[in-house]
Amino acid sequence: MQTGPARVVVLASGSGSLLQALLDADDPAFSVVAVGSDKPAAPALERARAAGAAAFAVPPREHPDRAAWDAALAAAVAAHEPDLVVLAGFMRVVGAPLLERFGGRLVNSHPALLPSFPGAHGVRDALAHGVKVTGCTVHLVDAGVDTGPILDQVAVRVADDDDEASLHERIKVAERRLLVDVVARLTRARTTDPTTPAAPHSPQERTSPS
Ligand code: GRF
Repeated sequence: MQTGPARVVVLASGSGSLLQALLDADDPAFSVVAVGSDKPAAPALERARAAGAAAFAVPPREHPDRAAWDAALAAAVAAHEPDLVVLAGFMRVVGAPLLERFGGRLVNSHPALLPSFPGAHGVRDALAHGVKVTGCTVHLVDAGVDTGPILDQVAVRVADDDDEASLHERIKVAERRLLVDVVARLTRARTTDPTTPAAPHSPQERTSPS
């Protein structure tokens, strides 16, 4: 029987401010046990170490091809026995090995209101399109790019004088709160009933075949 907080592994490529929000959440439902990155020098790994979580890097250049990297990443994540895997600014598309092992309990945070503006430049693309409202989305990861079932979203207004950086910073304020909230909801469902794995719980979210 599962006791104690749900084990969360976070993957991040960059500064890790979303990760920091999860590390600071102080919620009894979950604990960030490890942080992985494709970049050994990612500040996110420093944040993990500072918080007492394990930190690991799986750089693509250390693997002969994409399939080997996918397998190594899945193995590195699995070694920490996560109940939930969170992509928080992880700037790579994850492959089949991670999806097969953690499908249905693998979530991503995206800085736009999906299905609008998927991909690596969601903030820039929304701004270029001239939208007046954008925001952030936390969704389950599937084999597509930002196409998985949406778990929750928050809207953010675009200011007339916004550039990509200012808009992204404001989105990230909303994104941090939303991500902590969704992770808490998913893991609380699991800790309330120990026989229930960390999994989505609305009809819209129950799309995983496993
Ligand atoms: C977030 O906006 C995330 O959605 C995007 O990259 C940003 C990561 O920010 N993919 P940080 O590194 O957590 O500060």
